[in-house]
Amino acid sequence: MSKLRLGVNIDHVATVRNARGGDTPDPVRAAKLAEEAGADGITAHLREDRRHIGDADIDALMDALTVPLNFEMAATDEMQKIALRHKPHAVCIVPEKREERTTEGGLEVAREENQLAHFIAPLRDAGCRVSIFIAADQRQIEAAHRIGAQVIELHTGAYCDAHAEGDFATRDIELEKMRDMAALAHSLGLEVHAGHGLTYDTVKPVAAFPEVMELNIGHFLIGESIFRGLQPAMAEMRRLMDEART
Ligand code: PXP
Repeated sequence: MSKLRLGVNIDHVATVRNARGGDTPDPVRAAKLAEEAGADGITAHLREDRRHIGDADIDALMDALTVPLNFEMAATDEMQKIALRHKPHAVCIVPEKREERTTEGGLEVAREENQLAHFIAPLRDAGCRVSIFIAADQRQIEAAHRIGAQVIELHTGAYCDAHAEGDFATRDIELEKMRDMAALAHSLGLEVHAGHGLTYDTVKPVAAFPEVMELNIGHFLIGESIFRGLQPAMAEMRRLMDEART
């Protein structure tokens, strides 16, 4: 099986920084450390309300990184302009609501097919790989394919939440859905990524799907790095991912 890429999401280094309004801890420094520790990419979500990552962070990440930047953004004109200015390696389109604590569900692609097709076309033309963050749902995957996305990222949140709540029946149903939908997406020629809420306890079954090429992991890794340091926290995640792959 091909080696699974680990994308490290550094948003929550910025969350801690912004709690005090100063310059530390610097998410770009964390991104460089993650890069040194073998991250295959860095993910950052520039939210409309700039609650964690800010515009200057994206400028600095574009200058500093040697690994690809996966720029997460809502499908708004403002974000499209920023993405077209920077032309990051990948753009991941996510749903966004101001009142939510985190990205709670996948994007509704099927209902917004025409608008989204128009929205992503210039990003593709600019050379960005366009990824769509969606639930493991056949309608959404087929719609993502029709609008011309190159990548889908499966939202692992429902699976991880069910695990955390001890609802193992639901967890296993969610896992089976993701397994089937990863296979469907792959058969349509889409590259498959996954992420949201993954931890040491939940990563292996998802990492074992042969169609999944990349996992994007943030909150748990940044939290774990308080106790172990970022590089050891990543090394343990990498070990579990590799173990699941063999
Ligand atoms: N992938 C996408 C598309 C996301 O929106 C997020 C959260 O910003 C993640 C992965 C990472 O999720 P977490 O921080 O829970 O690991």
